[in-house]
Amino acid sequence: MPSERLRLDALAEPIVQAPMAGGPSTPALAAAVSDAGGLGFLAAGRRSPDALRADIAALRQLTDAPFGVNLFVPGADDADPTELAAYAAALSGEQERQGVAAGSAHHDDDGWEEKLALLLEARVAAVSFTFGAPPASVVQRLQAVGSAVLVTVTEVDEAHAAELVGPDALVVQGVEAGGHRGSFSDEDGRGELGLLVLLRLVVRAGIALPLVAAGGIADGSAVAAALTAGASAAQLGTAFLRTAEAGTSAAHREALAAPGTTGLTRAFSGRRARGIVNRFQREHRGHAPSAYPHVAHLTGPLQAAAAARGDADAVSLWAGQAFPLAEELPAGWLTRRLGADARAALAATAQRVTP
Ligand SMILES: Cc1cc2nc3c(=O)[nH]c(=O)nc-3n(C[C@H](O)[C@H](O)[C@H](O)COP(=O)(O)O)c2cc1C
Repeated sequence: MPSERLRLDALAEPIVQAPMAGGPSTPALAAAVSDAGGLGFLAAGRRSPDALRADIAALRQLTDAPFGVNLFVPGADDADPTELAAYAAALSGEQERQGVAAGSAHHDDDGWEEKLALLLEARVAAVSFTFGAPPASVVQRLQAVGSAVLVTVTEVDEAHAAELVGPDALVVQGVEAGGHRGSFSDEDGRGELGLLVLLRLVVRAGIALPLVAAGGIADGSAVAAALTAGASAAQLGTAFLRTAEAGTSAAHREALAAPGTTGLTRAFSGRRARGIVNRFQREHRGHAPSAYPHVAHLTGPLQAAAAARGDADAVSLWAGQAFPLAEELPAGWLTRRLGADARAALAATAQRVTP
């Protein structure tokens, strides 16, 4: 049994490739980042246990370097059926447009027990959680098989609650981040702090765990800023979306390369997430209920049909606020350049402020 769990400060580069559910997080992407000295991640969210098992096996074929797997913590089934019915009705035009019926809005736990069992067997270097803190018993079981455990937080009180379950590190996610808010609850007003503010509040609250900074970081200078503000590493998602190894769709890649803005919306999944503003987001963000994963099931067939037609106006285009900085580069090269640029930025800053 491995006695030493992965430590963030042992990474050759202070770069974590964010887990990105929905296709972008391929084994090839994680392998390229881990081989370059960062920490690659697979996304287990909304992926079947069999597909996850296959991803882990494929990644192990590609590299011996450490990597992580990310899990969604299931929430309670507290969606309001009336709100869901109203949203389903509001999507009737989308059904006509895509030529398919919407899915059935329902709750599920995303294969929680099965995926945990799989990870206890797979003994990966790191397991991160989002949408809440897992029970302490789960953290202990993963740590006992050698996995370092990370919990995503978006508020100081979430950091305190996460600390209590005994993880090895926290992922501190600012509101700039692409994809879903990792908040413990989807309530309005929660998880809306910018990364720099959140990092400083968490550090000054006396949280004594290594921190991974996430949200809007897309170049070495921003990595340096996060390290200066107290993080041990930076977790970047959007910056990797245009790399050759990512499984990002062609429509998503095109949107990332074009001018645009991002917005937070529940329209696609029923949980706030940041993506490039398109027609679907504009037309439905005002009335989409907080009901995850019910709304994800509802829009699933509509989004699949739109994706098959390459209709970028009707699929979620998850991206962080800094998406214009994402470049089309090989992922390993990007990882090493982010580290080198961060070191250069830190040295230049130290020189600039030296009296
Ligand atoms: C396409 C996409 C999918 C994402 N999926 C996940 C996920 O499955 N699990 C998770 O913890 N975070 C997910 N995130 C959020 C990232 O972990 C991270 O917080 C975010 O990418 C950081 O902000 P940035 O995109 O500006 O770099 C996703 C982000 C994007 C862009």
